[in-house]
Amino acid sequence: MKKVALVIAGLVVLILGSGLFADRSNPPVEHEVKWDSDYTKTQFMASCADCHSHETKWPWYSYVGPSAFLVAHHVEEGREHFNISVANMNEAYESAEEVEEHKMPLEDYLTMHPEAVIPPDKFEEFVAGLKKTFPPEKEGHHEEHDEHEEH
Ligand code: HEC
Repeated sequence: MKKVALVIAGLVVLILGSGLFADRSNPPVEHEVKWDSDYTKTQFMASCADCHSHETKWPWYSYVGPSAFLVAHHVEEGREHFNISVANMNEAYESAEEVEEHKMPLEDYLTMHPEAVIPPDKFEEFVAGLKKTFPPEKEGHHEEHDEHEEH
């Protein structure tokens, strides 16, 4: 029985320890956003930046498996779609809409980060700020965005 307990303990250590190998990199910030207001910036940094910038604050559960891989995956995918730290911010123009429709920030992120919830009395101000900072796409210009590069 002792052996079984040791094997199980060993497995638990291995599984939790595997989290150390998740990719938690914060590459250099290569781009500054021209925010319409300090409030928009502050709220974005509190609610969105962990997944949409190179300034991710990695939480403790991003260091232990298997949650480490879940977090790393969300950040990787988030940065892929929209990243304020690089010149080509990609889908930035969808920001206001995503927030307005309560698709962003991601639900499970808010469970772990109550401080990232957008205060209801600030909600409209934040959406308006996102619209000004990351103007929504004009109709009929859809194709351009994927190939768009800043020079
Ligand atoms: C926990 C990580 C996380 C947080 C926090 C987060 N996002 Fe996202 N975001 C993602 C992921 C993953 C995707 C891509 C897949 C998807 O749409 O669910 C994404 C996609 C997007 C997109 C591209 C449109 C799309 O649906 O693909 C925009 C724009 C966006 N997020 C804006 C925001 C804004 C604005 C905030 C803050 C109010 C925010 N996100 C907070 C993870 C996050």
